Amino acid sequence: MGTVVLGTGSCLPERIVANVEFESIVDTSDEWIQTRTGIVNRRVSGRNENTYQLAAEAAKRALGAAGISAEEIGLLVVGTISSHMQMPSTACFVQQEIGAFNAFAYDLNAACSGFLYGMDLADRYIRSDSSMKVLVIGAEVLSGRVDYTDRNTCILFGDGAGAVVFGHSDNENGIMGTHMLSDGRLWKLLYMHGPESSNPALAEKDWKGAYIQMEGREVFKHAVNSMSDSVMRLLERKGVHSDDIDLVIPHQANIRIINKLTERLGVDESRVFVNVANYGNTSAASVPIALDEAVREGRVREGDMILLAAFGGGFTWGSALIRW
Ligand code: ACO
Repeated sequence: MGTVVLGTGSCLPERIVANVEFESIVDTSDEWIQTRTGIVNRRVSGRNENTYQLAAEAAKRALGAAGISAEEIGLLVVGTISSHMQMPSTACFVQQEIGAFNAFAYDLNAACSGFLYGMDLADRYIRSDSSMKVLVIGAEVLSGRVDYTDRNTCILFGDGAGAVVFGHSDNENGIMGTHMLSDGRLWKLLYMHGPESSNPALAEKDWKGAYIQMEGREVFKHAVNSMSDSVMRLLERKGVHSDDIDLVIPHQANIRIINKLTERLGVDESRVFVNVANYGNTSAASVPIALDEAVREGRVREGDMILLAAFGGGFTWGSALIRW
């Protein structure tokens, strides 16, 4: 008895931006980007592809896959750090767009871990009320949040949305367990200012725009250490060996982070889902987009054990095990 995935969906902007396009903007090369990150292309939003519009389309596809109507959703959570408005939440925009009028809706800011944190919430709500169906979305338009003069960050990120409908099941399958943690002491290694305060007493002295700022090397180390620690703790708690995992779907930030993580877990690349080459780092959207693609490509079969892991600004991180 537990929380199962009823359906998945995703939505990517149409425009594909290749690494070579950055060669005329900053001092970089396709070769450097591919070698250091594994990224080849990313999607960049155009007209009618803002955060809530991508999120709503992903949600409609997930509802379609689940075979349920939007009115059946009781809770709608959107993990995002790039909503098109400060208020109302992206979740409320999605609610009105898809017609989920029996839900309460809110955004969750846990950066790249936003989807996993939302999934943890979904599991707990559904365990306390088995009639509840929860729609968890990760959606970002980070193309508007990077400084295109900063080669350290502008090449890394992309836009997109992924959505998953969770519900109750009487069988043994479903979410087996989650492990979540954060450490606010390390915030300065990865952050993004909000809109400049209109209160002069609070205005940031070093405000250069609401862009992502990052100490890449430090973030890299923490990402590998924290995600592997989270996964080890979860596997130990659930009495699972890494050989039992059929597919790892990690946050898609950098192929070298993914490789180091899965090396530590002792999972070979045939059991790891990777699509970072196509989309770059889509933060909260990365895990649900990858999960949806894995499902549609037939990489996830009934009875499989799936491991999800994510890490992001905050720092926030976590992992989850699902028996599909
Ligand atoms: N093109 C060319 N050179 C570059 C670029 C670029 N786009 N970006 C940085 N460099 C240069 C640096 O300026 C540096 O030059 P220097 O030696 O003259 O100072 C050199 O490359 C090496 O820089 P490093 O930071 O050591 O390069 P590294 O191999 O660590 O790769 C990267 C940098 C890709 C940012 C890596 O540290 C990384 O992926 N970190 C994780 C960042 C991340 O994923 N953040 C997203 C949010 S958190 C998350 O999702 C996990």
